[in-house]
Amino acid sequence: MEKLDTIVQEALQAFAGVTDAAQLEHAKARYLGKAGALTELQKNLGKISPAERPAMGARFNSAKDQIETALTAQREKIQSAKLNAQLALEALDVTLPGRGVHAGGLHPVTRTLARITALFHSIGFEVVDGPEIETDFYNFTALNQPENHPARSMHDTFYLDDGKHLLRTHTSPIQIRYMETHEPPIKIIAPGRVYRVDSDATHSPMFHQIEGLWVDERVSFADLKGVVVDFLRRFFERDDLRVRFRPSFFPFTEPSAEIDMSFGDGWLEIGGCGMVHPNVLRNVKIDSEKYQGFAFGLGPDRLSMLRYGVNDLRLFYENDLRFLKQFN
Ligand code: FA5
Repeated sequence: MEKLDTIVQEALQAFAGVTDAAQLEHAKARYLGKAGALTELQKNLGKISPAERPAMGARFNSAKDQIETALTAQREKIQSAKLNAQLALEALDVTLPGRGVHAGGLHPVTRTLARITALFHSIGFEVVDGPEIETDFYNFTALNQPENHPARSMHDTFYLDDGKHLLRTHTSPIQIRYMETHEPPIKIIAPGRVYRVDSDATHSPMFHQIEGLWVDERVSFADLKGVVVDFLRRFFERDDLRVRFRPSFFPFTEPSAEIDMSFGDGWLEIGGCGMVHPNVLRNVKIDSEKYQGFAFGLGPDRLSMLRYGVNDLRLFYENDLRFLKQFN
């Protein structure tokens, strides 16, 4: 029975060093199992004299208690260590900054279009649109553009396979579509994409235009100049902006002019304009004796170049984020 204390010490030590649940059960077997050290001693208890037996029994039981308590404690320790390890593995650091949603930005030309429509809207122009795939009739014929006009050639225009449709080359067909279905007074602007077989620093095969149209009983060329110059000064926020109306030709206006803006040492053409040709009014059954008006078509891509100081228009359409991000 002297061995009892030694066994307890050994068992406590053996348990304390174990960190694995299966190994702990092995260690338990060495002391409490059927062939364990304590069990062997228990067999000897029977040989002890009856007088000593109660005292020895009590010592034995307390030794067994001690070992069992230590075993349970170690079991719990292993279990909680395992739980903690798992929790650490699945830990979520709530203090980390979020990944966030990547915010996109508006394309510089989209910003320009929004700014232009807002400015015209503020002086009473209604914003309308029309189809990008047009018929020859709306894109040319109704606009007083004769069959042999050079702009109608395959070379300048993208035709669809059916031979009847084309990608509109300007926003002017919207004038026709609108005047066919509305009575004067008409006061609209119409932004949109247009297409031409063009490509250089100031020409892109796809670009934008904003069409303006004001038809009423007494709309004059002076109104045209006033509206356009006032718009440009507000758009560029410069009262001293220099604008030039250079005599030109469009089949659908008479007289006609190109609108130029001072740009560096020279001028950049930003649009065309003129008084709506009486033939165009007749084509849409508006009384050209009673009504007259002006129209213009501005190039928002060129206005974006000037506003943001970009010297090649094609940069807007290369989708290089390093370039585009500068505008947001
Ligand atoms: C027209 O397209 C006429 N429809 C404008 C108009 C409307 C005149 C109403 C009279 C009355 P033009 O081809 O000049 O005109 O083009 C107008 C503007 O579009 C040009 O001044 C320019 O700013 C822009 N533009 C023309 N081609 C391109 C291109 N390939 N890339 C970028 N901008 C262009």
